[in-house]
Amino acid sequence: MFSFLFPKKNLLEGGVLFGMTDVHSHLLPGVDDGIQSWDEARKAVAWLESVGVKRMFLTPHVMEEWENTASSLQARFAEWKTRIASPIEFQLAAEYMLDAAFARHRQEGLLTFDGQQVLVETSYFAPPMDLEDVLYELQTDGYQPILAHAERYMYMEETDYERLRDCGIRFQLNLMSLAGTYGRLPYKKAIRLLEEEAYSYAGSDIHRQSTYETSLRHLYLKKKHQEPLLRLLENNAQLWRGSRAKLTGIARDSRENP
Ligand SMILES: [Fe+2]
Repeated sequence: MFSFLFPKKNLLEGGVLFGMTDVHSHLLPGVDDGIQSWDEARKAVAWLESVGVKRMFLTPHVMEEWENTASSLQARFAEWKTRIASPIEFQLAAEYMLDAAFARHRQEGLLTFDGQQVLVETSYFAPPMDLEDVLYELQTDGYQPILAHAERYMYMEETDYERLRDCGIRFQLNLMSLAGTYGRLPYKKAIRLLEEEAYSYAGSDIHRQSTYETSLRHLYLKKKHQEPLLRLLENNAQLWRGSRAKLTGIARDSRENP
């Protein structure tokens, strides 16, 4: 992992992706609004490999709009492992919309990062009426909710973020927010939350390689914002290690208790 960036270089040239663990991506083809074909997936993976990405969680949307379930995504991921050859390591998690279908998905069992931490999102424009109840219930069931791209919710005010943080909800930053790709407000919120060290993780949320690549080529970060970003990327790597340890433990348990 690099120890510093170059302020006059964009994030891509500065090597920010080198050695990166990405916690948010939509590469699994044909299951949501992300990558649609195996060919497109192969090209995106080859590019990510060329810029130094080492590990990626695949986090397809699970929401009313698409008919994904934990088991259908696991089947698709099994196919991924036979069709995508890359030195990048991949693991499956998911991005759960807190909508009317969420209770059903919970009953089936959630796709988490490490058996505990789970990526969730809401509509960008309005929260579900029972947002805090749903998050609280997740926590009491032993889950650690991570709010995906926390800066993108137009309805959230500073006090909302404070309240969620006080309740123990973790936040994930989209790198493209720092490039202004989603507009002025998400950019300003991302900078503020980064300065407040409110985030736990950073991800690409890549849906198309071209959009992500263009965005990173326009992303220049001041030195004071580079340090907190590097800490998030280290957290990503730790999350991966925790996840691998959990998987290894499960494999060992199933051998010992067939
Ligand atoms: Fe996403």
